Amino acid sequence: MSGPRVAVLAGGLSHERDVSLRSGRRVAEALRGRGCEVVELDADAQLLPRLAQEAPDVVWPVLHGAVGEDGALRDVLELLGLRYVGPRPAACRLAWDKAVAAAVVAAAGVAVPGEVVLPHATFRDLGAQAVLAAAARWAGLPLVVKPARGGSALGVGVVRREGDLARAAAECFAYGDTALVQRHVAGTEVAVPVVELDGRVRALPAVEVRVDGGEYGYAARYTAGAAEFFAPARLPDEVAARVAGAALTAHAALGLRHLSRVDLVVRPDGEPVFLEANAAPGTTETSLLPQAVRAAGLDLDALYRGVVETALAQPVAEPGAPWRPGVAAPA
Ligand SMILES: Nc1ncnc2c1ncn2[C@@H]1O[C@H](COP(=O)(O)OP(=O)(O)O)[C@@H](O)[C@H]1O
Ligand SMILES: [Mg+2]
Repeated sequence: MSGPRVAVLAGGLSHERDVSLRSGRRVAEALRGRGCEVVELDADAQLLPRLAQEAPDVVWPVLHGAVGEDGALRDVLELLGLRYVGPRPAACRLAWDKAVAAAVVAAAGVAVPGEVVLPHATFRDLGAQAVLAAAARWAGLPLVVKPARGGSALGVGVVRREGDLARAAAECFAYGDTALVQRHVAGTEVAVPVVELDGRVRALPAVEVRVDGGEYGYAARYTAGAAEFFAPARLPDEVAARVAGAALTAHAALGLRHLSRVDLVVRPDGEPVFLEANAAPGTTETSLLPQAVRAAGLDLDALYRGVVETALAQPVAEPGAPWRPGVAAPA
């Protein structure tokens, strides 16, 4: 008996194309090793005819950046009547906009940094300097300026001196038309994959990211040795349980499904603060997800195969069908 036919989508036209291709290759190899028939497809003009030709049982989009995470591609997959791994379009849209995600997750009871959302037009109409000064007075220093939507830490700046604020804002606007000014949260940065297997949602062990000099920025991510990882994170059991609970709450509140990764900063008092949730987490050999899977003592290939089963077990989604966030799972 042959296993399910899976189309792994990787590549896409984003600066994370390379990472996506490596992520996709890893998932494809794992699934082939576990009895699936796998085709690897790029998200380009050939995609729709190829999907029609291949008629996969399930599609696994391993695409980062807007193409994979803003929900549009999943809308198209639903129009084609295809099952796929990962959240439905509306959940992607909630998670992709960091300010919207923070509002939803805060309403579910998880702490967030606190932020103001400033579209470029606000600066233009009201005067950049005056608006920035007011935001800085509220946030205090250091503060964080980042694009409302984006990834790989591009355009994210930590401002420690008031004089650096204008430049940070300008850099942020190079990556999007809306800036968030956030309070800076000091503490331990962690990433928590959430996975649905055998009808159960579970948080994998948190992976701690430590970067000399502070933030997990673009250079720290793509320079070998710049970041240090601890899996599981070096947290007391009771704090680790709170972190897992916060990740599960965020996953459920945003209506994410199958597989996600929730990034948080754990304050020195043990309170987990939500930064963002990723609808299509990286799956390269050195990504955070595989580290968490190993820390949990699970088999990575079997886990990917299990995620495919989870997606296969669900009915094909109707485009635009009623959608509502899930209920928070107990920690
Ligand atoms: N409010 C904040 N407080 C402290 N550090 C932050 C904050 N926001 C972002 N960071 C740091 O910047 C990095 C990138 O920010 P993030 O919002 O996760 O952007 P991206 O989606 O590009 O990963 C984080 O991994 C973290 O190290
Ligand atoms: Mg991040």
